[in-house]
Amino acid sequence: MIMLGIETSCDETAAAVVEETGDPQHPWRTRSSVVASQIAIHREWGGIVPELSARQHIRDICGVVDRALADADVTAYDAIAATQGPGLVGSLLVGLSFAKSLAWARAVPLVPVHHLAGHIESLVLENGEMPLPAVVLVVSGGHTSLYRIAAPGVYELVGRTRDDAAGEAYDKVGKLLGLGYPGGPVIDRLAAQGDDRAVPFPKTKLTHADRNAPQLPGLRDFSFSGLKTSVLRHVTTRRVELGLPASEPLPQKDVADICASFQRVVVETLLDRLFEAARWYGALSVGIAGGVSANSRLRADAAARGTARDMPVFIPSLALSTDNAAMIAAAGLRRFRAGMTADLNLNAEASLTL
Ligand code: KG4
Ligand code: ZN
Repeated sequence: MIMLGIETSCDETAAAVVEETGDPQHPWRTRSSVVASQIAIHREWGGIVPELSARQHIRDICGVVDRALADADVTAYDAIAATQGPGLVGSLLVGLSFAKSLAWARAVPLVPVHHLAGHIESLVLENGEMPLPAVVLVVSGGHTSLYRIAAPGVYELVGRTRDDAAGEAYDKVGKLLGLGYPGGPVIDRLAAQGDDRAVPFPKTKLTHADRNAPQLPGLRDFSFSGLKTSVLRHVTTRRVELGLPASEPLPQKDVADICASFQRVVVETLLDRLFEAARWYGALSVGIAGGVSANSRLRADAAARGTARDMPVFIPSLALSTDNAAMIAAAGLRRFRAGMTADLNLNAEASLTL
């Protein structure tokens, strides 16, 4: 079976062709994956402008889908998977409407996919089925969530951020240090030149249930807004100490130390919670997916902790860690085999839950 995947939830227009292999351990193979990034457009504004994003998706979608089919050397496919949510609703609508039209024109089934299920299945697409039960951390610009997976394709939310996502914290800290958008990759690079113990930023550990969401377990939640505020306070204090005028940037050494110290706290917080949840649920493997899984320290530290605990750690390659459509096609194949398709009344949902 051949699946065409389409993803337009945020600032990447993506299409991919993924096929089934017949091997239950490695169920899918990527035949093509095309991503048109809008980062250069949004950088000018310091963050994503939803209206510009939706308009750019309209410009790019035909070419991206054509290219994915040409790269895969296919003209026909058996079904279409598209991201239904969560994401920017105007952006989601472009990909979803395109997928619906194509499904109708080609008379093939339409499979709606949750964006985070896509990130999780990117791990299986590349490395084969994870030993279950597993705990997977999905960490991106919009989400920081822990899922327990006891059966393939069944994702149970066991922890999430109560305020900022980790990627959002990276982007906000990047902005306040004047490093441009997105902050994650730049902070990752600068952190390598800094002292990660130079600034004692606090690690937030929530130990109480969330009064706003009493139905969730809540004890394995994250919070990153306090860390972001303490970076802001530190920067303000340092500027006063150095007598810097507002127009002048902090010295490079300061910036590198802040990046390294901030990154240490983020990575340790994420991994403490992930491995704690793995122990709690008796997991046989752990995974990390989403844009922040591209972080070099997170990847290295996760691998080291996994080796020390004899726990397999699944992390996607860099191409699959940020948004792409191969992961959507893979999750779509999983859902299609579970009998989940949609009719053409399907609508995009900005805050779809998994
Ligand atoms: O999954 P993704 O491409 O889009 C969303 O669904 O949000 O993730 C984008 C996020 C951004 O916040 C970006 O700063 C972060 O991933 N990111 C990184 C790195 N590369 C991307 N964060 C830390 N270190 C990186 N190397
Ligand atoms: Zn994403």
